[in-house]
Amino acid sequence: MKFFLDTADVDEIREWNATGLLDGVTTNPSLILKSGRDIKEVLAEICDIVDGPVSGEVAATDVDTMIKEGKALASIADNICIKLPTTLDGIKACNILTNEGHQTNLTLCFNATQALLAAKAGATFISPFIGRLDDMGIDGMELIEDIRAIYDNYDFETEILAASIRTTNHVKDCAIAGADVATIPTSTIAKLLDHPLTEKGLAAFLADWEKTGQTIG
Ligand code: E4P
Repeated sequence: MKFFLDTADVDEIREWNATGLLDGVTTNPSLILKSGRDIKEVLAEICDIVDGPVSGEVAATDVDTMIKEGKALASIADNICIKLPTTLDGIKACNILTNEGHQTNLTLCFNATQALLAAKAGATFISPFIGRLDDMGIDGMELIEDIRAIYDNYDFETEILAASIRTTNHVKDCAIAGADVATIPTSTIAKLLDHPLTEKGLAAFLADWEKTGQTIG
């Protein structure tokens, strides 16, 4: 499973890119607002840091303006992925932009039929929002499982990009369900290696090693 970082904070992106674990980045208008940066400037900087796809979201809701904005975003760097809402206009824009060779990410997906249409429109990625479904008492992970089954039935190449991830269990369950990508906030990615027994075991090993009086290398 690929790991994308769900942030527009370039310091966080630089830090996690240095681990060699990062396959891409997703942003959205709320994350751009949080960064306090100009969208084109910050996306250019992120694209310089990360080799993989960097999603930048259009702000238009009609197909013609979505295409215009999408092309403006794509002109920033070769690894820009144009993020479009999963609406009829978004689907139409996705079809056109994909046929012109652009990467596309259909966002705000909350049911499997939206994902089916996104795949038929040739989207590079579909972004089902797990956490926001969980917030409503609906099991977000079932959506990932349903989309996986549909895409496998028809050999769709659209990648399932699990979004709105809130917990380390979300990451684990996405991997079990076969999501192609998880886009993870830094607060969650930082917890993926945490386990008290790892900390405790390491402390005990280091204490015993100290007692041996030995050195390595
Ligand atoms: C990423 O592409 C999405 O925009 C993001 O994961 C949404 O997360 P949220 O529901 O925590 O805002």
